[in-house]
Amino acid sequence: MDDHALLAEQMAYYRAGAAEYDRPYAEREDLRALPATLDDLPIAGDVLELACGTGRWTPLLAARARSVTAVDAAPEVLSLARARTPHTHVQFVQADLFTWRPSRRYDTVFFAFWLSHVPPARLPDFWQTVAGAIAPGGRAVFIDDGPAEAAVEEVLTDHPVPAAMRRLDDGRQYRVVKVFHVPHTLTADLTALGWSARIRAVASTYVGVAEPPAPGG
Ligand SMILES: C[S@@+](CC[C@H](N)C(=O)[O-])C[C@H]1O[C@@H](n2cnc3c(N)ncnc32)[C@H](O)[C@@H]1O
Repeated sequence: MDDHALLAEQMAYYRAGAAEYDRPYAEREDLRALPATLDDLPIAGDVLELACGTGRWTPLLAARARSVTAVDAAPEVLSLARARTPHTHVQFVQADLFTWRPSRRYDTVFFAFWLSHVPPARLPDFWQTVAGAIAPGGRAVFIDDGPAEAAVEEVLTDHPVPAAMRRLDDGRQYRVVKVFHVPHTLTADLTALGWSARIRAVASTYVGVAEPPAPGG
């Protein structure tokens, strides 16, 4: 199905709502605790961060990385991320992740709360792009909402792509893609694509570490 309109609406939501994005992180205890999960994760070397948003994770990645390339399509969130990340070894790139292809490989490809915004039909291509961005011995590290988070979203039933409605303070509303992956199903999906993945639930989220298929494998 043609999901371009939905992806454009999703993008418009993040652009218009950039100034509101960080609020739940101040209000919700579980989200405040989340950055600590990074401590145990294998973040190293040259890091590519997909959909960096307002840069909630970027300075934490920068503290562990040789370099960080942080990509997002929304200039409004990128300017907040830049303000939060003074590190000289961090480069921000404005690009649409559904068309952008990295020009080099990275030791770690990190994405937080992005996988749930990728339409299911685009997941094989997405994982292929991520695999192509990972240097030998490197891995993908990801965090996102698990099924329990559906209870706090306005899930749109009977929608051709799994989606939720989001509202801004001024009343404007936007549809976003929202897929609440179940850790063991996501593990099986990745295994079927040739990845080696370990995905565990952490409160209402899941945290995954995955190595891509061997080249030619
Ligand atoms: C849920 S936020 C996650 C931000 C950040 N990773 C975090 O955990 O706080 C999703 C991000 O995806 C970005 N985004 C949406 N559509 C995009 C696209 N097509 N290409 C690149 N980034 C996109 C939005 O601008 C937003 O910053």
